Amino acid sequence: MVTAYDAPGARVASEAGVDMILVGDSVGMVVLGHSDTMQVTIPDMVHHVKAVANARPDAVILADMPWISFHVSPEDTVRNAAELIRAGAQCVKMEGGSKRLPMMKALIDAEIPVMSHLGLTPQSFNMMGGFKIQGREKEAVEHLVAEAKAMEEGGAFAVLIEGVPNIVGTLVTDALSIPTIGIGAGVNCDGQVLVYHDVIGLENRFKPKFVRRFGSAYEDQVAAISNYAKEVREGIFPSVDEMYVAKDGLLEALGLYGSSVDE
Ligand code: KIV
Repeated sequence: MVTAYDAPGARVASEAGVDMILVGDSVGMVVLGHSDTMQVTIPDMVHHVKAVANARPDAVILADMPWISFHVSPEDTVRNAAELIRAGAQCVKMEGGSKRLPMMKALIDAEIPVMSHLGLTPQSFNMMGGFKIQGREKEAVEHLVAEAKAMEEGGAFAVLIEGVPNIVGTLVTDALSIPTIGIGAGVNCDGQVLVYHDVIGLENRFKPKFVRRFGSAYEDQVAAISNYAKEVREGIFPSVDEMYVAKDGLLEALGLYGSSVDE
């Protein structure tokens, strides 16, 4: 699984053969320039889910429920999730454990499949005191495994587990019969997810330990735009091959034939 936020990203992910595209609320940080995900709203998510869906990717589209869109009431949660489904998602992801069970049940009753997101949940940034690795102590590990089981029993079709030691990813995966998707949760999860801009190397400022850059998109794009600007300034772009030529007789009609004006 990889995130995508727009049609070109969805086309790339689809052609690359990923199974699932997550339209993550990470859009707030990697695309919209916010410093956390709490600024992201349902209208923001709808906008980006539509863009991804418009590419008709050959992958399941999973939409993140942004902060506060599933905290107020089950009714509110269903209405918000429905907007994401109508925008083109096939399922939604919800951060947090058993206290979200009534909301998850309401979504499943409304025929909306739910992935649960446990461990380091970025929407809990303020409560956690920052982006902090979870499951460091025995009690915390036991609590996480219990929460994962509760989400499975509550009907989640998968559990995404973020920012925990490898052993915790392993224990959660072993405890569940539904798939786990890890991000910074070690190698034993059933699947992995990364943020698109991290995978292609477009995000080059900050590299968490769990990220591997599989490309150098930032440097490649700077080089491409620099070459473009240079060739415009030097009059090399556009070349003859990149210009439209006037049809026969137009220069005469304009009274320009034989003048210094280029065709
Ligand atoms: O929003 C997102 O991209 C996510 C991933 C970090 C899993 O939730």
